Amino acid sequence: MKNVIDTRNHHPIRVLFVCAIALLLIVASNFAIAAEPVLELAFIKQRQKLARLDLLRHPDVRTISIPADVSYKRKMEYRALPLKSILRNLHGISTVQFKSEDGFVANIPVELLSGASEPWLAIEPANAPWPELKPGGRGAGAFYLVWIAPEKSNITPEFWPYQIAVISEIASLPERYPQILPDASLKKDSAEYRGMQAYITHCASCHQINGGGDAKLGPDLNLPFNPTEYFQEDFLRKYIRDPAAVRQWPQLTMPGFTEAVMNDAQLDDLLAYLRHMAQRKQLATDAKLD
Ligand code: HEC
Repeated sequence: MKNVIDTRNHHPIRVLFVCAIALLLIVASNFAIAAEPVLELAFIKQRQKLARLDLLRHPDVRTISIPADVSYKRKMEYRALPLKSILRNLHGISTVQFKSEDGFVANIPVELLSGASEPWLAIEPANAPWPELKPGGRGAGAFYLVWIAPEKSNITPEFWPYQIAVISEIASLPERYPQILPDASLKKDSAEYRGMQAYITHCASCHQINGGGDAKLGPDLNLPFNPTEYFQEDFLRKYIRDPAAVRQWPQLTMPGFTEAVMNDAQLDDLLAYLRHMAQRKQLATDAKLD
């Protein structure tokens, strides 16, 4: 009887079966590793793929509290790392790009990342998943950029990218689209240059100038006409502060920019920039030529 069992145990079919199970287990465990979220850093001087578990084990990880989380619209607590603990060498870089799994892109000036608003990378622990953002949808994890004091440097909602897949460096907007630059003879601290910075921070996530920019959600603000050419100044100010105060329709997408987000001096600079750019439409044609 014992013999019979022995021979059956070594039957070629059974051996094959055991091999197949073993193979399945190996493949399955590989899938488990592949499913573990990985954050990619794609900087010229820093190329790394960081696994969630390794990030959570980083000695700088803390539990932080975000009083008014932009994505969840309520108070949230996270296990998180100061962004500067992982982005070690930002020297010579002007803009950092956060690319989300769905293709959303946030281009954040380095001044903001090293400024008073304190960006942290929130990391979703596998055993304590975050809530979904919309019913039936995904949460903000596994990697989400949050700010401890967003009000200190007017961090806009576009600068809270979630489901981050890749962090990389890119040239600044005016380096990539010189047609948005004010005249080179103007000082870098002139109202027009400051206005361009305000434009980059608040408007370039949706608009272009002279066909230059990454987004096309709203109309080009210089071509064929600049709003300073066809809006009376009072109405343009009103429109930027609260678009619905000037005209209303259900699909209105542009958010209003209150004084808390952009103060009067910044709005003055922005308008000086827009008025100035109305004289610089030829740059769009020049940009197309080269
Ligand atoms: C989230 C995207 C978004 C941002 C940010 C944004 N806009 Fe808009 N803007 C739009 C869209 C879309 C329209 C078209 C009207 C609409 O749907 O609201 C528009 C329309 C406008 C118009 C009216 C153009 C016209 O002829 O009707 C002006 C002027 C304007 N935006 C200026 C600005 C300025 C200045 C800023 C930055 C302070 C800005 N926008 C930021 C999306 C945006």
